[in-house]
Amino acid sequence: MVARRVQVVIIGSGPAGLILGQLLHHSGIEAVILERRSQAYVLGRIRAGVIEQGAVDMLERAKCARRLHAEGLVHGGIKLAFGGRRHRIDLAGLSDGKHVTVYGQTEVTRDLMEARLAVGAETVYAAEDVAPHDFDGDHPYVTYRSDGGEHRLDCDIITGCDGFHGVSRGSVPRAAITTYERVYPFGWLGVLADVPPVDDEIIYANHRKGFALCSMRSLTRSRYYVQVGREERVEDWSDQRFWDELRSRLDRQAAETMIIGPSIEKSIAPLRSFVAEPLRFGRLLLAGDAAHIVPPTGAKGLNLAASDVYYLHEALVGFFAGRSDKALGVYSARALARVWNAVRFSWWMTGLMHRFPEAGAFDQKIQEAELAYLVTSTAASTALAENYVGLPF
Ligand code: FAD
Ligand code: PHB
Repeated sequence: MVARRVQVVIIGSGPAGLILGQLLHHSGIEAVILERRSQAYVLGRIRAGVIEQGAVDMLERAKCARRLHAEGLVHGGIKLAFGGRRHRIDLAGLSDGKHVTVYGQTEVTRDLMEARLAVGAETVYAAEDVAPHDFDGDHPYVTYRSDGGEHRLDCDIITGCDGFHGVSRGSVPRAAITTYERVYPFGWLGVLADVPPVDDEIIYANHRKGFALCSMRSLTRSRYYVQVGREERVEDWSDQRFWDELRSRLDRQAAETMIIGPSIEKSIAPLRSFVAEPLRFGRLLLAGDAAHIVPPTGAKGLNLAASDVYYLHEALVGFFAGRSDKALGVYSARALARVWNAVRFSWWMTGLMHRFPEAGAFDQKIQEAELAYLVTSTAASTALAENYVGLPF
């Protein structure tokens, strides 16, 4: 067993762990990241694409926003498509000039990994059997296997940034944690393709055949999704079948002008809302998807990881400055207040835009009335814009 000491062990090298790692480094706090997968695997995962201003600010604080500003696409509006028409929601006009940036999570991750390498901070990739220990006392530690050897990292703090299926939340005694969950009866089939996006803004489409989303990664790369049943398998979706289904859910002009091409990635993501409370268990603190999941309809998951890390970084700086547990104590409540706002918004957007198998004619009419209200009432579209661009933190 090789044993050594570090101030903070970060479990997981997704956006939450990587942003936290950079902020801690710039605050003079030493952290090691333990990541179960290889670097190439982490960089190959295609996920989020919409970054709120608050998350951009966090990447700036992490000194990782140069390429995002050079290559990211600034969007001041989104389109809602239903009843054969597209309606623009003027995000910027309705939110005092705020906007979102379309920039792939893969690129965010790459920029953060490069910055980490540049400052000489350590990440152990392909770390096996990572396990947090004794976090209810003052001397927590983490064990793992790497290159065939056993390792032990003694530390002051363990942060669980290891996503929904990570080991951190699962290490907490069941009685200490309360979970809230809604599983939706559908998933999203997503395709990435090197074709120009069909619109210069993101389209959220509510259609009788199910939800569709037209997003992008650049002016030459599109990211499209269609709602599919939970039982669907990606092998059963040829590119042609996907494009036909997507076009059938869009307005005529979008369907006719859409350029299609071979997929470079295709995957199905299930949709769920999930929150675990609290976020702190002694010296183990959870952040990002390790603690909560939102359906991607509101484009909030990555952004919530960033806001959790904002509060977590403040808590850790306070802890190491005064070596008191008081600073850690406020983390959970501060982060969760913002989390629940995003959980509510994502749940609401999901209900508004999808077809639910169990929905009857009455539910259908209510959904149509709500969509019509949303695009004709300034009050309603302002509420959408305020949440979509991201509540302050
Ligand atoms: P993750 O990115 O899941 O990172 C966790 C890391 O921990 C991983 O690298 C994992 O390999 C590692 N790990 C797991 N277990 C262990 C272990 N035992 N030991 C060590 N390491 C471990 N969000 C948005 O904000 N906007 C969007 O537009 C958006 N679109 C999305 C579209 C799709 C299809 C999906 C699936 C998600 C989308 N999201 C979106 C959500 C977003 O991708 C996540 O919320 C975000 O990745 C969370 O970051 P994280 O760092 O908390 O977790
Ligand atoms: C994406 O570009 O992948 C994306 C955009 C908006 C969403 C979800 C995903 O709501």
